[in-house]
Amino acid sequence: MTPGSTAHEITAWLLPTAGLDDAMIAAWRPLLDAGEQARADRFVFDRHRRTFVAAHALLRLRLAEACGVAPAALRFEPGAHGKPTAWIGGTPAPLSFNLSHTEGLVGLAVTPVAGCALGFDVEALDRRVTLDVADRYFRPEEVAWLHGLPAAAQAEGFLRLWTLKEAFIKATGDGLACDLASFWFEPLLPRVHFTPALPERAEAWWFGQRLAGGFVAAVGLRAAGSPVSVHWRELDPTGRAAFR
Ligand SMILES: CC(C)(COP(=O)(O)OP(=O)(O)OC[C@H]1O[C@@H](n2cnc3c(N)ncnc32)[C@H](O)[C@@H]1OP(=O)(O)O)[C@@H](O)C(=O)NCCC(=O)NCCS
Repeated sequence: MTPGSTAHEITAWLLPTAGLDDAMIAAWRPLLDAGEQARADRFVFDRHRRTFVAAHALLRLRLAEACGVAPAALRFEPGAHGKPTAWIGGTPAPLSFNLSHTEGLVGLAVTPVAGCALGFDVEALDRRVTLDVADRYFRPEEVAWLHGLPAAAQAEGFLRLWTLKEAFIKATGDGLACDLASFWFEPLLPRVHFTPALPERAEAWWFGQRLAGGFVAAVGLRAAGSPVSVHWRELDPTGRAAFR
C-alpha cells in the first residue's frame, strides 16, 4: 500500500496524565531505551518527567502492538527538523505516527502506512492565552476570524487554530522552520489554505479536530484526496489500559 492509494485509518490515543500514580510511571520507565531515559532524567520538574515517560511508554507499547514486535525492538530516528520515524532493525516500521504532549495529556496518532505526512497536536483548553502570537505570526484571515469572535470565545478559537497549525507543521516535519503565515485555516470546518509561498495543494490535505475533557486535539494528514477516518481512543486516566 502506498500513501494516497486507499482509505486512511488513523487511531488517535489520548492519555490523561493527572491521575497517573508513581507505580504506573515506575512500571513504564524500563520500556524506554537508554537515550529516552537520559532525556527523562534531564527534566527539572517531576511532572514534565512523568509526562515524558508516559508519552514514550505509550508510543512504544502501541507501535510494538501494531507491528507485532517487542517494545524494545523499536528504534526512533529523527528527521532533518527532529521528526522521529520508527524502525525495526534496518527496516522502516510499517506505520506512521506523531506524538504530542501537554500539561495533563499525552496524544499519539498512528496510521498503518509508512512514510505518511501525519501530524498531531494537543493542548489544554485552560492554557493561558493572549492573541499577541496570532497577531504577530498568523495570517490576516486567521487574525480577522479570531478578533471577530466574542471575547469569551477567543482563547478556544486561538487554541483551535494553534493545534491545527501545529498539526500541519508536524505533519510535514518542518516544525517552526515553516513560516506560520504561509498557510491558514478555516478552523471550524477545518480546512487549510496555502499561500503561493508554500508548494502544497489544499485538496491533498485532510484535518480533523476534537474538543473533549478540557483539551483540544488536531490531526492532519497529506491524504492526496483519499478518504480518512479517525478513531479517537480515550484511555482510562489511571493509564492501566494503555499497558494492555
Ligand atoms: C517540535 C515542534 C514540531 C512541536 O513542538 P511542541 O508543540 O512543543 O510539542 P508536541 O508535544 O506537540 O510534540 C513533540 C513531539 O513531536 C515529535 N517531533 C519532534 N520534532 C518534530 C517535527 N519537526 N515534526 C513533527 N514532530 C516532531 C516528537 O515525537 C516530540 O516528542 P518528544 O519531544 O517527546 O520526543 C515544533 O513545532 C515546536 O517547537 N513548536 C513550539 C510551539 C510553537 O511555537 N508553536 C507554534 C504554534 S502555531
